[in-house]
Amino acid sequence: MRLIIQDNYEKASQWSANYIARKIQLANPTEENPFVLGLPTGSSPLGVYKELIKIHQEGKLSFQHVITFNMDEYVGIPKDHPQSYHSFMWDNFFKHVDVQEKNVNILNGNAEDIKAECQAYEDKILEVGGIDLFLGGIGPDGHIAFNEPGSSLTSRTRDKELNYDTIVANSRFFDNDVNKVPKLALTVGVATVMDAKEVLIIVNGLGKARALQHAIEEGVNHMWTISALQMHPKGMIVCDEQATYELKVGTYKHFKSIEENNLPPEKLWDSNLVW
Ligand code: GLP
Repeated sequence: MRLIIQDNYEKASQWSANYIARKIQLANPTEENPFVLGLPTGSSPLGVYKELIKIHQEGKLSFQHVITFNMDEYVGIPKDHPQSYHSFMWDNFFKHVDVQEKNVNILNGNAEDIKAECQAYEDKILEVGGIDLFLGGIGPDGHIAFNEPGSSLTSRTRDKELNYDTIVANSRFFDNDVNKVPKLALTVGVATVMDAKEVLIIVNGLGKARALQHAIEEGVNHMWTISALQMHPKGMIVCDEQATYELKVGTYKHFKSIEENNLPPEKLWDSNLVW
């Protein structure tokens, strides 16, 4: 696993956005051979979305032939609710770039048959050839998508009860009222994320330091579902300094030193260098 430590959130976001943009550019996607991108919601990816929009507006990147799959969606709130993940994605990203609506996939939390909806999502991912790159964030308890502690590391897209910590954490988007936060969500499984050809997780702030420590220094464990990334052949975490506060000095120095000579992705634009 790569751990890319950046000075602050802004730099971590820029690094990640340039990495994603460069991957799409190198893939040179077409209608017949699109690039498939997995996407998260939450505050962590907001900086990445801002940067990707900027790169797009500078004319360097098109999403015309990018197919997206979002990680999760709440059950029981309307699609156009301001806090639905549909609204989040359109407000913060999709409406600012040239993605085609037909290429956007987000789970329908109001589907009559939830099991069929989840199975259809898995089928659709396979149909388009799998996810090339899955961008993600994590909760303070190390959950990825809505795979709460104790979720099977071989899990697939399904409905999931949210735990109290997640409900409290997400209440900031619902007038700080835990009663307004949906208690159920549809989410891709840990294995759905791990099937992607590459996974890039953005981790920032002191509040995520304990989760990062478990993800990097402890063993693979269903109580910290992000730790499954250790089993991925191309897993990468991009973090800020604050998120590293629980790591051993030796761990921190190790990852800093092995990344030292790697060119940052923004330096790779318009060059022939690839990763
Ligand atoms: C929710 C989402 C996760 C996200 C997490 C962290 O639980 N389902 O995908 O990673 O929140 O959110 P934030 O980035 O706001 O800390």
